[in-house]
Amino acid sequence: MEQLLQQIESIKAEITAAVITSQDELEQFRIKYLGTKGLVKQIMGEMKNVPNEQKKEFGQILNAFKIHAETAFEGFQAALGDTETTDHSIDFSMPGDPTTVGTRHPLNLVRNQMVSIFKRLGFAVAEGPEIEDDWHNFGAMNLPEDHPARDMQDTFYVKEGSENQSAWLLRTHTSSVQARVMETQKPPIRVICPGRVYRNETISARAHCFFHQVEGLYIDENVSFADLKQTLYFFVQEMFGKEVKVRFRPSYFPFTEPSAEMDISCQICSGKGCNICKHTGWVEILGSGMVHPKVLENFGIDPEKYTGFAFGMGVERIAQLKYQVNDLRLYSQNDLRFLQQFKSV
Ligand code: PHE
Repeated sequence: MEQLLQQIESIKAEITAAVITSQDELEQFRIKYLGTKGLVKQIMGEMKNVPNEQKKEFGQILNAFKIHAETAFEGFQAALGDTETTDHSIDFSMPGDPTTVGTRHPLNLVRNQMVSIFKRLGFAVAEGPEIEDDWHNFGAMNLPEDHPARDMQDTFYVKEGSENQSAWLLRTHTSSVQARVMETQKPPIRVICPGRVYRNETISARAHCFFHQVEGLYIDENVSFADLKQTLYFFVQEMFGKEVKVRFRPSYFPFTEPSAEMDISCQICSGKGCNICKHTGWVEILGSGMVHPKVLENFGIDPEKYTGFAFGMGVERIAQLKYQVNDLRLYSQNDLRFLQQFKSV
C-alpha cells in the first residue's frame, strides 16, 4: 500500500513536469497515462489488492490521481491548440492563396473591339433572334425560295415550311437582324449586328457549324460606295494598324448591288506569303456592297431617295489574323491552356 502511494506520487510529479510541444507528443502522453493500457488504468487495477477497510480512502486517492492526469492532458491540449492557431494567424511568410480570375474569351475580346470601333463612327448595336423565319433570313434579303444562292449558306432547318406557314431555321447570317431593323426603323439607319450564326458544315480546322459575325448597315440619302470603302478602311486601320493595305474585288451577293469582297494584306506574314494567305499576301475578311434596291423596297424604303451600304464579316477570321489561331475548333473546346493566353489583352 505504501509502495503504491509512492508510485502514484512519482507519476503525478512526472505528469506535472511533462513538456508537450506537438500533437505527436500529446498523443504519446495520452497513450502513456490515459490509454487503455496506460498507467492510470494499471494503478486502478491495483484496487482489488487493497484491503477492504482501506478501499474507501484509496479510492479517493485514485480518483484524484485520475483527475490530475486528465486535467494535465486537457491543459496541454488547449495550450497546443491555441499556439497552433496563433502561430498560423501571424505567420506572414505563408504564401497567399491565389484568387483565380477568369479570362475573356478571345472571340469576345475581338467582338468588343470591333463593336467599339464602329460605335465611334456612330453605329448603334442591334441584336435579333438566332432562330429565324425564312423571310428575315432569306426572303427579305432578296433570296426567294429556290434561289440558287441559298446554297451558298447550308442551312439548319428547325421546322419545315408549308403553304401557309414559314419555315424556321437557325440564322445563317446576321443580315436577318438588318432585316428586322429595316422593318422597324426609318432611315437614317446606321447599325452593326454582332451575333452567332449557324451553317451546316462539317467541323474542321477551317470550318465550323457555328461562328460569329459582325454585319453592318448604313442607309441614308446620298450614301455611296466611297463611304463604304472609307468606313471599312478606317475599321481595318483601327483593328490592325495604319500599315494595313486593302483591296476590293467584285463579288456577288443577292442583297447588294454592286457587291465586293475586301482583302487585307496578310497580318501573319506581312504580305510575304504564308499558309494563311495561301502565299498570295492577301486574306479575304468580308463581303460588302450597296444595298439592293429590292431589299429597300421590301421594307418600304424608297430606293430613289435612299441608298445604303452593307457589309458582313466573321469574328473568328479577324481573331485568327490578330492572334494567329489556325484551328477554328480551339474557340469552342474550352481548353483552359488556350483560353488563359488571352488574359492581358
Ligand atoms: N451576309 C453575308 C454573309 O454572311 C455577308 C454580307 C453582308 C455581304 C452584307 C454583303 C453585305 O456571307
